[in-house]
Amino acid sequence: MSTFWSLWIIGLTLTNLVLVLWVLLANRKVAVRDDESPENRTTGHVYDGIEEYDNPLPRWWFKMFIATFVFAGGYLAIYPGLGSFEGLAGWTQEKQLAQQQQKADALYSEQFGKYNAMPIEELARDPEAMKMGLRLFANNCAVCHGADGGGNHGFPNLTDNDWLYGGNPATIKQTITLGRKGVMPPWASILGEDGVHETAEYVLSLSGREHDAELAAAGATHFKQNCVACHGADGEGVQAMGAPNLTDDIWLYGGEPADIRQTLRLGRNGVMPAQQELLKESRIHLLAAYVYSLSLPYDEQE
Ligand code: HEC
Ligand code: HEC
Repeated sequence: MSTFWSLWIIGLTLTNLVLVLWVLLANRKVAVRDDESPENRTTGHVYDGIEEYDNPLPRWWFKMFIATFVFAGGYLAIYPGLGSFEGLAGWTQEKQLAQQQQKADALYSEQFGKYNAMPIEELARDPEAMKMGLRLFANNCAVCHGADGGGNHGFPNLTDNDWLYGGNPATIKQTITLGRKGVMPPWASILGEDGVHETAEYVLSLSGREHDAELAAAGATHFKQNCVACHGADGEGVQAMGAPNLTDDIWLYGGEPADIRQTLRLGRNGVMPAQQELLKESRIHLLAAYVYSLSLPYDEQE
């Protein structure tokens, strides 16, 4: 805030307070009359036969009014409120937030402490821990992966035991901690529209979907030249690259011919945001266990 606006706000605020105080005090006294009979204490206004008495504010009300001024004065001295004056207490929203976070962290690290020491496989079978995991997941992950972890277009299903990056506890934890960036390059300019069609038919054939055998045969050549480095010679995917298995008929971006052609033309770049800074180690440990638990065999799930 510039000095001008700061002074402007200070001036307005204080002038207002003084004016209101003046109005209050100026109307405190009733005009003194010779004759204090009830009739003479009216203001003279009559409406529908109702007369208005000229009484001062009740004393308790007046005192409360004064108390609000004292409060306002104190408040404006201690807390920021007058332009850019910071207040004597040095309070800021940021400081308060930091303090509350510290408190919460201390509280949580106590709660999470015992879970931190447990291996993820064990934690995934602990009903109490998984209740907390479910809540963390709902708050931090469900927007993208769905409330049940079932995924959405472009956001992987975490319950199907089909993994882009791998489903062992350590890998899941790494995925959550550091995030992931899927890099599927665009092929439109390299393969041309015909090449895209042919390759898409070959991709369809990999998972036994309906396809044109002749186009697919041509596509197989493109695949060998351009795709095996990431998706593997047989198209079963390479987890180190996050390149999905193309043979299992599980699709991140849709398995219809039009979806696959679109994937090939423009490429895809899924981003799993890193949670390291946001959630910290203990919560990530619990979430990794929760994600791991989602694809445990049904009779082992809590
Ligand atoms: C902004 C959306 C978004 C949020 C929020 C998000 N994710 Fe993800 N996540 C993704 C995307 C997109 C991918 C796939 C990345 C890719 O395509 O390479 C992914 C991938 C993953 C994977 C890897 C799956 C596999 O098959 O290997 C795991 C595990 C995962 N997320 C867990 C979580 C957890 C736990 C949270 C909550 C802390 C979370 N995600 C929050 C978008 C999100
Ligand atoms: C540089 C490595 C790389 C190369 C080369 C590559 N891909 Fe990919 N591909 C990926 C990655 C990584 C993803 C996942 C993208 C994501 O997570 O957002 C992917 C995704 C896909 C998908 C989407 C799968 C789904 O489940 O929706 C298809 C289809 C695909 N690739 C086919 C191909 C074909 C065909 C080629 C060759 C023309 C090819 N890819 C070349 C890395 C690669």
